[in-house]
Amino acid sequence: MKALSIKNRFCDMFFLFLCVCISNIYASQVVLLTGGAGFIGSHVAQALLRRGDTVILVDNINDAYDQKLKRYNLSQITATSSDNNLSIYEVDIRDRAMMDTLFKKHKPNRICHLAARAGVRVSLEMPEEYMTSNIIGTLNVFELAHKYGIKHVAYASSSSVYGNCGEGPFTEDFNISHPISPYAMTKCANELLAYTYYHVYGINSTGLRFFTVYGPRGRMDMAPFIFMDAIYKNKPVKIFGDGSSQRDFTYVEDIVNGIIGAIDNPSSYQVVNLGRGEPIVLRDFIATMEKVVGKKADLRYEPMPITDVLLTHAQIDKAHNLFGYTPQVAVEEGLRAMYKWYINEYMPLINGNK
Ligand SMILES: NC(=O)c1ccc[n+]([C@@H]2O[C@H](COP(=O)([O-])OP(=O)(O)OC[C@H]3O[C@@H](n4cnc5c(N)ncnc54)[C@H](O)[C@@H]3O)[C@@H](O)[C@H]2O)c1
Repeated sequence: MKALSIKNRFCDMFFLFLCVCISNIYASQVVLLTGGAGFIGSHVAQALLRRGDTVILVDNINDAYDQKLKRYNLSQITATSSDNNLSIYEVDIRDRAMMDTLFKKHKPNRICHLAARAGVRVSLEMPEEYMTSNIIGTLNVFELAHKYGIKHVAYASSSSVYGNCGEGPFTEDFNISHPISPYAMTKCANELLAYTYYHVYGINSTGLRFFTVYGPRGRMDMAPFIFMDAIYKNKPVKIFGDGSSQRDFTYVEDIVNGIIGAIDNPSSYQVVNLGRGEPIVLRDFIATMEKVVGKKADLRYEPMPITDVLLTHAQIDKAHNLFGYTPQVAVEEGLRAMYKWYINEYMPLINGNK
């Protein structure tokens, strides 16, 4: 009896030892993360560091919005890191030679590619910038993945690929051959490029179609930030259309969980929706924002730009089936977290107190 219990204890210890070994192997992931100084990328960087991965962060810190915010994001990431598990490079992904040097030096075994010029309206003003950063930049990432034998790339696509494709929910097999802005076109092109590299070189990839992401560190050119800022400062809030358009607003922490799920679960060539799956009418979104900020919005209606879509609505079963993606955060809860960040971190930063 005694011998048996010693044997059992030995088995338990051996099992524990195996788990530690496996988790150490797992923790030794080296992830090359592009766009890491940005909104979503900075949250991803912290999540990867917290679980013990090494992060090679690449970002050109462009001026699409206030660079102070990106540098602040970087300082938050640095505060999360320890023991040389973070390298930050201010590099443009269009610079193939420089990117090659980073791949050679750090030998990443995973790529999370989020760098891009984002936003639909500005893409009409500077289409070259969008084409080069988003398409040539992505080409470089896939070429280097091929050269250095990296078998999986998780990369940012967008709900914009759906254009005005009609009724939701949008499933990944919808025809996306009619993008309605240069930005959307670049994201469609990325998905095609990823397929080619899967077909020719066997590089697995997961294209992540994000649906209107909001939360702390939110992009200053996106509606959730613009609305919050304007309501807080008693400024007019511009609404495009009559307020009846719908967006599938998704909290950044849910998106980060989806991205990590995709990084950890390579599966041939995939594109997946990462949304909340519950679109909200713009007017209702603003009403929730008013509640959170505690002020009424001064609404000004303007015509809908030709690049804007009427509805985004993600069908999220595929991401759930592939890697357990399950969004948790309701819009009011997410907006409260964003407002807390806006008051406690963003305002002092912009006013020079941080
Ligand atoms: N935020 C959203 O709701 C949303 C929705 C759909 C898709 N996306 C996509 O997700 C990704 C991340 O979006 P985000 O909201 O965090 O945007 P962001 O602008 O905050 O982050 C992108 C980062 O990429 C960097 N970058 C851009 N061009 C670069 C280049 N040529 N070389 C190196 N770095 C470069 C920028 O400096 C920025 O820090 C983007 O690819 C975007 O198109 C975002």
